[in-house]
Amino acid sequence: MRTIKIGLLGFGNVGSGAYALLNANLEDIQRKVGALVEVKRVVVRDTSKARPVAYDPALLTTDVEAVLGDPEIDVVCELIGGVDPAHEYVLRALRAGKQVVSANKELIAKEGESILREAQSHSCDFLFEGAVAGGIPIILPMKSSLAGNRVDQVKGIVNGTTNYILSKMTLEGAEYSDVLAEAQRLGYAEADPTSDVEGFDAQYKIAILSSIAFTSRVSVEDVYVEGITRVSQSDIRYARDLGYVIKLLAVGTRSGTDCVQVRVHPALIPQRHPLASVNDAFNAIFLRGDAVGDVMFYGRGAGMMPTGSAVVGDLIDTCRNLVHGCTGRIACTCYESRKVLPIDDLVTKYYLRISVSDCPGTLAAIAGVLGANGVSIESVRADAHDKAEAVWVTHAVREANMRAAIEQMEVLPEVYSVENWIRVEE
Ligand SMILES: NC(=O)c1ccc[n+]([C@@H]2O[C@H](COP(=O)([O-])OP(=O)(O)OC[C@H]3O[C@@H](n4cnc5c(N)ncnc54)[C@H](OP(=O)(O)O)[C@@H]3O)[C@@H](O)[C@H]2O)c1
Repeated sequence: MRTIKIGLLGFGNVGSGAYALLNANLEDIQRKVGALVEVKRVVVRDTSKARPVAYDPALLTTDVEAVLGDPEIDVVCELIGGVDPAHEYVLRALRAGKQVVSANKELIAKEGESILREAQSHSCDFLFEGAVAGGIPIILPMKSSLAGNRVDQVKGIVNGTTNYILSKMTLEGAEYSDVLAEAQRLGYAEADPTSDVEGFDAQYKIAILSSIAFTSRVSVEDVYVEGITRVSQSDIRYARDLGYVIKLLAVGTRSGTDCVQVRVHPALIPQRHPLASVNDAFNAIFLRGDAVGDVMFYGRGAGMMPTGSAVVGDLIDTCRNLVHGCTGRIACTCYESRKVLPIDDLVTKYYLRISVSDCPGTLAAIAGVLGANGVSIESVRADAHDKAEAVWVTHAVREANMRAAIEQMEVLPEVYSVENWIRVEE
């Protein structure tokens, strides 16, 4: 029986998880593939580092040529992270005719086009299931099982750290900074949480998902992004009173025949929406296809073994393709070119929390500004204190109008400040 040889680049969380899973289920995996499967070399930065899994130390090397330059290695698994040097390593592997598996969202969101072009020109596989929502299968289902659909929307909770923080704030009444500190202590948040809490991690993921969903490349810069750092306990409580929960949503929507809109921001979603009950570090992706209707994928969006599961699934797929001589079957699916609309063109409802004086006429002044900008009001809730807060929910309106209204409101003498405004996703 043929032996397929794998070279791992990276043996951190995901690399060691994938390696452990491959070994634990090796016999079954080999029967599923129809070939023997062997990890031949593992490239790391520091061979003396302690690793959380059992392995043969002779596998480890700091020399990337031991993988990229070895003609016996059929499959390269890139689990280093970041763009440099991962991009160069992936291109070199593909040029050498090797199949490549990666879980690197940043690399795929930024350099997916050049990588997929290279893969196509060498009839190689480039598979990246682990890059979006860790253990949840979504890339291959979109490219394969759901490929017969025209997808109108893909939206989800794709960042576990922020979902953990918002869930704790909602369920335990804690403040953002306290939950973040606890998440860092427990290892759910990085020491530098910027990429998660500012929404950049979700931005990479929705750029990838939207590119596949709408068969048109969405670059990272085209994704509007806003993180969760301004969401306060007051917003969470008012949202609850209004029948909503606050989640960091990543949303891609088809708009007309040749446009899309792609965004990441906190949103009020109705308590009855399936995404509202996705709590803790779990992820979920909700997709609407013209034939299938609504589909939701739910599970663990990160972690050594869940992401290892996605990586090993890709390894099995590419090994099967090697056995049957059909690598490179699923080429780049971005064969169209759609315009990405600016956030100003979004039409949605808005929640506004405004700190106001309790002078007579305050609400009328605010309502006047909203009305002058074409913003109509669905509900208003005003607390009669010295420095009161008024909470407004608008009807659906263009974001450009909402922004203009907020700018004008901020200079009203009756308004101390617009504390926060959050989009409402029905
Ligand atoms: N962690 C998750 O839950 C998760 C989920 C989904 C996707 N991902 C993606 O999976 C990838 C890996 O993440 P991770 O959490 O496993 O990262 P990690 O724990 O930091 O591991 C990175 C590994 O790459 C090695 N490495 C880094 N730079 C290298 C270089 N220049 N040359 C050779 N080896 C190098 C490191 O070597 P040393 O061990 O010697 O330092 C380490 O083994 C990233 O793209 C990440 O976005 C992660």
